[in-house]
Amino acid sequence: MAGWSGIGRTGSRRSHHEMALITGASSGIGAAFARALPASTGLLLTGRNAAALAELAAGLEVGGRTVETIAADLTDSDSRQQVIDRAGALEIDLLINNAGAGSIGAVVDQPRETQAATVDLNVAAMADLTRALLPGLLERAEDSGQRAGLILVSSSTALAPLPYFAAYAASKAFTLFYGEALAAELRGRPIDVEVLCPGPTRTAFGGRAGFAPGNLPGAANADQVAREALASLGRRVVVATGRLNGPMVETMMRPRLAFTMGLGRVMRPLAGRRQRQAAASEDET
Ligand SMILES: NC(=O)c1ccc[n+]([C@@H]2O[C@H](COP(=O)([O-])OP(=O)(O)OC[C@H]3O[C@@H](n4cnc5c(N)ncnc54)[C@H](OP(=O)(O)O)[C@@H]3O)[C@@H](O)[C@H]2O)c1
Repeated sequence: MAGWSGIGRTGSRRSHHEMALITGASSGIGAAFARALPASTGLLLTGRNAAALAELAAGLEVGGRTVETIAADLTDSDSRQQVIDRAGALEIDLLINNAGAGSIGAVVDQPRETQAATVDLNVAAMADLTRALLPGLLERAEDSGQRAGLILVSSSTALAPLPYFAAYAASKAFTLFYGEALAAELRGRPIDVEVLCPGPTRTAFGGRAGFAPGNLPGAANADQVAREALASLGRRVVVATGRLNGPMVETMMRPRLAFTMGLGRVMRPLAGRRQRQAAASEDET
């Protein structure tokens, strides 16, 4: 248990971050993250709904705090690059990859664009933002002697294939696998990686997806979910929220995460050799 819960931790826990990028901040869990962070953390808030972002920002701009918004569709590569550029310029030290969407229905009956939108947002944008911003997060943490933070919002649906929500659950499994692997790769580096797996939570998600997880018995409040995720950063890699399924999900994750850590030790020298070969062939050219 100690080994599992310690994955991704390398030092003392940092109590706050200077500047956070939150995707999907215009509603639900993302807006709750913005409200839950302390006023000492500046905010870069993004989503497509400019009016909702502005309203949230207006309530959070206190005492000279930096709160910026960018309205951007993260499935659009130019808009995504704008967010990445601004996050780099603001020197974020906390990235919360929260934007996500899904649509209930049989794969064969869904419009192609609906499935593509889920994969583009939940998989491609999430992984691209992470890859683009990770070097800066690490560099700044190494320079400052502080710890950076990376939160990837997955879902309790990531645990098993889910008929009639196939692309969504598979996209969240991607997030979970990617985040756990990153936590193993980044062990020993000054960054805390967390994969948040919310259970049913009362947000706009259900209405958009075509069913209402927020109406399920025991559905959580978005503010509680965000607070628990932030309080767990640097303590646990996989954080599952929800009265009913939270403890169950984390129990199921433990053996697999220990296995992932072992695989990380096997793969690390192979990746190192590959990197040295690439550097040598670059020197030759
Ligand atoms: N609610 C649940 O029961 C539940 C359970 C497990 C996991 N989750 C996950 O939690 C995360 C937050 O969802 P939520 O429940 O808070 O739902 P939500 O209220 O619908 O919020 C989703 C956020 O994602 C943004 N978004 C959607 N499409 C986007 C796009 N193409 N480009 C940029 N931003 C986009 C939305 O902003 P705009 O509309 O302004 O673009 C919104 O801010 C998601 O990753 C979701 O999969 C939710």
